[in-house]
Amino acid sequence: MDDIERAIHGFIANVLLEGEDISFDEHTPLLEHRLIDSLNVEELIAFIESTYSVTLSDWPHSKWETIQNMAGLIHAHSPHFPEAAMSTTPEAIVTDYEKSVARYWNEKLDDPINLLLGAEDGLVHHHYGLGDYDPAVLSGSGADREAAIIRELHRLECAQMDVVLDALGGMEPDNRFLDAGSGRGGGSFSVHRRFGCWVDGITLSQAQIDFATKLAARHGCTDKVAFHLQNMTRTQFPDGHFDRILTNETTMYVDLAAAFGEFARVLRPGGRYVCVTYCVNDAIAPTSADCEAVDAHYGTRMHKRSEYLAALSAAGFSPSQVTVLNSQTIPYWELRSHSEHRTGVERAFLDGYRSNVLQYVLIVSERLPA
Ligand SMILES: C[S@@+](CC[C@H](N)C(=O)[O-])C[C@H]1O[C@@H](n2cnc3c(N)ncnc32)[C@H](O)[C@@H]1O
Repeated sequence: MDDIERAIHGFIANVLLEGEDISFDEHTPLLEHRLIDSLNVEELIAFIESTYSVTLSDWPHSKWETIQNMAGLIHAHSPHFPEAAMSTTPEAIVTDYEKSVARYWNEKLDDPINLLLGAEDGLVHHHYGLGDYDPAVLSGSGADREAAIIRELHRLECAQMDVVLDALGGMEPDNRFLDAGSGRGGGSFSVHRRFGCWVDGITLSQAQIDFATKLAARHGCTDKVAFHLQNMTRTQFPDGHFDRILTNETTMYVDLAAAFGEFARVLRPGGRYVCVTYCVNDAIAPTSADCEAVDAHYGTRMHKRSEYLAALSAAGFSPSQVTVLNSQTIPYWELRSHSEHRTGVERAFLDGYRSNVLQYVLIVSERLPA
């Protein structure tokens, strides 16, 4: 039991068990066993609200099913507790490589290719696009042409997100979703908008957390969407906490065994993990000049495709879908090459995807029961 679970357990035990012979733990279904009904619920609410500075009025009763659930909600939504005990986890950024990744994203503050695209609707993404572009956007000139290209690139990155949302499958408003490597929050907001679920986004960059937290206010979802400074290879969330996990172009920064092991811990059995990434197509060659150029540009350490499938399987996941998206993402890179805000990495992506030494893949996996 963590500290919060222990405190709630103690409170319930004090109130409920006076003279009674009932045993329960943090996983006991309190609603099903009518333990919650036998308590003075108002006192429980007052205890949680005053101890952890959270407001319980928005939490449906069903979410209190277990003490572990209550602790998870408090972890995710207390304005004080996450700062003190979760969001500021110094152990999130330890190695020299983690420090360099954090620095890269903390210093990437003036990047028009990302910021301009999300300026209108507040969905700022750091992933690429899917689908054909409308060639008419290239027919104008000057600022109008550039504005049309930017709008079209954003449409394609949102289309990529739609593919991800479909792959996540149905989620209910009381489900919990982890956006591992949440960037500026575009994916987290898109997921919340589609499913209405609880969302925790984690990143190594405090600048991204501050940015995304402000946007959460603009989107009116601070009650259910929160961002934390946490490392996806060793998070602070309880076992089996999430129903779905997404990594959208983030696993190139982490050791796969460490990340997938952690996802297997925090995902409930039968829960789904969706991964989108670029990777080396090692069925052709173990690396290539294009893959190395992409890694050098972003400071990533891209993995081989076969390593994904082996690491998922070793961590207790069963992949149910593997889709290579090269042909769908090539138009995005072609269009981006025409933008004034291209960054120079476009050629390596185009050559790599066209020759198939580099692959853009979507992998959907379910966590096997223990
Ligand atoms: C290319 S961005 C993708 C952002 C987002 N998924 C999106 O689609 O817009 C990569 C993100 O991964 C995060 N990241 C890298 N290593 C991480 C780690 N070990 N733990 C948590 N986040 C990490 C970075 O901080 C950054 O937010």
